[in-house]
Amino acid sequence: MKVAVFGAGYVGLVTGACLADLGHEVVVRDIVEERIDALRGGEVPIHEEGLAQLLERNRERIRFTTEVNAAVEGADVIYVAVGTPPTYSGDADLSAVWTVVDELPEVDRRIVVAMKSTVPVGTGRTVRHRLDDRGLENVGYVSNPEFTAEGTAVHDFMHPDRVVIGAFDPADADVVERLHDGIDAPIIRCDVASAEMIKLAANAALVTRISFINEIANVCEATGADVTTVAQGIGLDHRIGPAFLRAGIGFGGSCFPKDSLALKQLAANSGYSFQLLNAVIEVNELQKRRVIGKLERRLGSLRGKKVALLGLAFKPGTDDMREAPSLVLAGRLLAEGAEVSAWDPVADGRHLDGVDVAGSALEALDGADAAVLVTEWPELRALDWAEAGARMRNRLLVDGRNMLDPVEMRGYGFDYEGIGRAAE
Ligand code: UDX
Repeated sequence: MKVAVFGAGYVGLVTGACLADLGHEVVVRDIVEERIDALRGGEVPIHEEGLAQLLERNRERIRFTTEVNAAVEGADVIYVAVGTPPTYSGDADLSAVWTVVDELPEVDRRIVVAMKSTVPVGTGRTVRHRLDDRGLENVGYVSNPEFTAEGTAVHDFMHPDRVVIGAFDPADADVVERLHDGIDAPIIRCDVASAEMIKLAANAALVTRISFINEIANVCEATGADVTTVAQGIGLDHRIGPAFLRAGIGFGGSCFPKDSLALKQLAANSGYSFQLLNAVIEVNELQKRRVIGKLERRLGSLRGKKVALLGLAFKPGTDDMREAPSLVLAGRLLAEGAEVSAWDPVADGRHLDGVDVAGSALEALDGADAAVLVTEWPELRALDWAEAGARMRNRLLVDGRNMLDPVEMRGYGFDYEGIGRAAE
């Protein structure tokens, strides 16, 4: 089939590359010329495992353009994969979605617009009206949300837990279902609003689990239990399951913070206060800041103290720093008068005002009074921690991801503190 993908960001590129790999003819369209030029030249503007290889392997089947008409010409399906960032009020900003919808040219055959961008429930209905108002009755509409996580997006796309297809017209759902031939996963076919809600509710369930285990961790700290053992103990209950029970310094990224806020506002706009989600968001904000308290308890005032942030990306395997806990930590530390150094194997922290970004983890640790492990990069697990300790002025180590072995770290002379792990 012929597919146009609007938006050459994380979601659009992964969608385009994977659909090409399934044998479809793909055109990816973006408004940013430099990005399209780079992609045409074989450069991949984002760090995503396996994406570059996939694009290379399917070079014959994937093209890049800035032109709407060139993208839409001959297409059976048009994917919308543009950004929907939060507005000042916390609602999703759909302006990029409306631009795509309003730019669609008239076509003399049936084509299907498939929404990949995360949008509030009710968006599909509004898009439908907008298309009808323009006389584009032969443009179908389907909600086909993505559940791919950064760093494993290609794998997640090709091996999903499920494919959700919400449509107004079953014939449109058939088209999108056929597009997924070759992917072995249950298909949920439903109405558009339910498909939109499945996406938001899935993310809400996941963030609820994270804030839940983070609160359990905080109570563990206060009572002498160890959250990693507790997570293992509850995760073996088949009704609970082991995933997403890693306590830490909170969730970040391009989806969770934005989508939980968007669902909260969506509920509020309909007159409902989503109290559980409000708490989940607040717990996450406090969780990032708890590290500051841990440092102050050991070091006293942070004024003039050097704190090294190990990892800047919101999680390993990506260069993405959107809503990363590192940003809040750096900001709070600088506000407390600390000197902040940082290192990340991929994420570029050079734009972080006042933060001294080092070329290596050991360099960042030179003369530090404390180290905070912010992102659980494998490189940090493999770090020469004996050497790391030797470089520091004071061996205080806060492991914000519970990645390191407390006994081993204490063996290197560190005053080690994790999240929700029993003190020495
Ligand atoms: C997420 C969803 O997983 C994906 O389905 C959706 O489409 C987009 O949002 P992503 O943001 O790429 O994907 O990352 P994910 O691996 O889910 O992690 C999100 C955040 O939660 C990270 O900051 C991570 O550190 C944190 N997290 C995750 C925890 O703190 N504890 C956990 O147990 C799991």
